[in-house]
Amino acid sequence: MDIFQFVIDQYEKRFGIKPDHVARAPGRVNLLGEHVDYNDGLVLPAAINLATWIAFSPSGTDTSTLVALDLEKEESVFDSKTIQTKTSVDGHMLTDWAKYPAGMAWTLLEHGLAVKGMNAVFSSKVPRGASLSSSASVEMTFGIAWQALGGWSISPMQLALTGQWAENKYVGMNCGIMDQFSSACGEKDRLLLLDCRSLEYRTLPLPEDVAIVIADTSVRRTLVTSAYNKRRESCEDAVILLKKKLPNLKSLRDISVEEFNKLSSILPEETRMRAQHVVNEIERTSCAIPLLEAGDINAFGELMNECHASLRDLFGVSGTELDLMARLAQPLPGCYGARQTGGGFAGCTVNLVKKEATQEFSKRLSSLYEAQTGLHPEVYVCQASQGAELVK
Ligand code: GLA
Repeated sequence: MDIFQFVIDQYEKRFGIKPDHVARAPGRVNLLGEHVDYNDGLVLPAAINLATWIAFSPSGTDTSTLVALDLEKEESVFDSKTIQTKTSVDGHMLTDWAKYPAGMAWTLLEHGLAVKGMNAVFSSKVPRGASLSSSASVEMTFGIAWQALGGWSISPMQLALTGQWAENKYVGMNCGIMDQFSSACGEKDRLLLLDCRSLEYRTLPLPEDVAIVIADTSVRRTLVTSAYNKRRESCEDAVILLKKKLPNLKSLRDISVEEFNKLSSILPEETRMRAQHVVNEIERTSCAIPLLEAGDINAFGELMNECHASLRDLFGVSGTELDLMARLAQPLPGCYGARQTGGGFAGCTVNLVKKEATQEFSKRLSSLYEAQTGLHPEVYVCQASQGAELVK
C-alpha cells in the first residue's frame, strides 16, 4: 500500500471518520555547500522522493491530537497554551518528536497566524537521524497542514523560515535555512541553488544520464545537536576575531580564500580549521555553478570529493563509517563523486553516478561496506522531487 493510502486508513482507524486533507513534505539531500548555510553561503541541495505524509482534519477545538504512526502510534495532545511550556495537556513534557509540530504551531502563533486544533496521523519515509532532514520534512508537513486549516497563506520560503525559527527557538538546534528551504521549495528533477544571504534561489539541471545515489551507513549518533551548535559557534568566533582586521566583515561569506589565508594565523587552531572549511566550501560551491551549467559532472564530482575531505579534516563532522562509505564509493565505475551529506557525524553519503552504472554501483558499494562493517546499508537511487504540498 502506498503511504498516501496508509495515512488515510490509519486516520480513519484512529478517529473513526475519513480525514479532510492529506499533505506531504520531502526530505533533502545536499550535493555541495555543507555547513555554509548559517555562514551566508551558497548551497546546492535537492528535495528527494522520500517524504513525510500527514492525514488531518480540524479538531473543532484548540486542542491538537497527533499520532506518530512510525513510533508505535505514540500520541501527543497539546493546545495553544501548553505549547508555550513545551508540555502536553496532561502536563508531561513534550516528547522529542512532538517538539517539531508544536514548535511550528508556536512559531506561527508568535507571528500572529491562526493555528487551529487538528487531529492528525503522520508517517515518514525519510529515515530518521540519517542527515536527510527528516525533522524539516515533519515541520514543513505540519506547516502546510496548519496553513490549510488556518485560512492564511504564506510563501514556501516564509514557511521554511518559520520551520527554521521553530527549530532554533523551540527545539534548540541552531540550524541554518537549507533543510526547511529544500523541503518547502523543492522542484521535480532539479537541483536548487540557494544564496543563504539574500534567500534568492534558482534551479539547475542535472544531466539526464546522471543519478543521485544516497547510501545510508545505518549508523546514528546521539548528541549531534550540541556538536552542531558548537561548530556554528566556532564560525561566529572566527568572524568576531577576523573583524579586528576586517571591520566590515559580517560573516565568513565576506572573506575570500586568499584574504583568509593571509589572516588565518590570528585564529586559534580549532577555530581556524572550522573557518577554513567554510571559506573554501563557499568558494567551491561558487565554482560548481558554471560546471553544472556546462554539464561538467567530472569536475563537479571532484569538488564533492574535496568537500568530503574538508568536512573530515577541517570541520570535524565526519565519522568512521561515513569516511569508509565515501572512500569505497569514489573509485567504483561510474562514480563521479561521493561525500557525506548534511550535518554529519553519521547518516548518509551522497554519490553522483552514471545512470547506466547505478545498479552495479549500488550492489558493489553495499557488499563492500557490509563486508568491512557487518552493517547492512540502505542504498537509494533518488529523484529530485516537488516541495511540500497539500495533496488532498
Ligand atoms: C543540518 C542543518 C542545516 C545545515 C546542514 C549542514 O542539516 O539543519 O541547516 O547547516 O546541517 O550543511
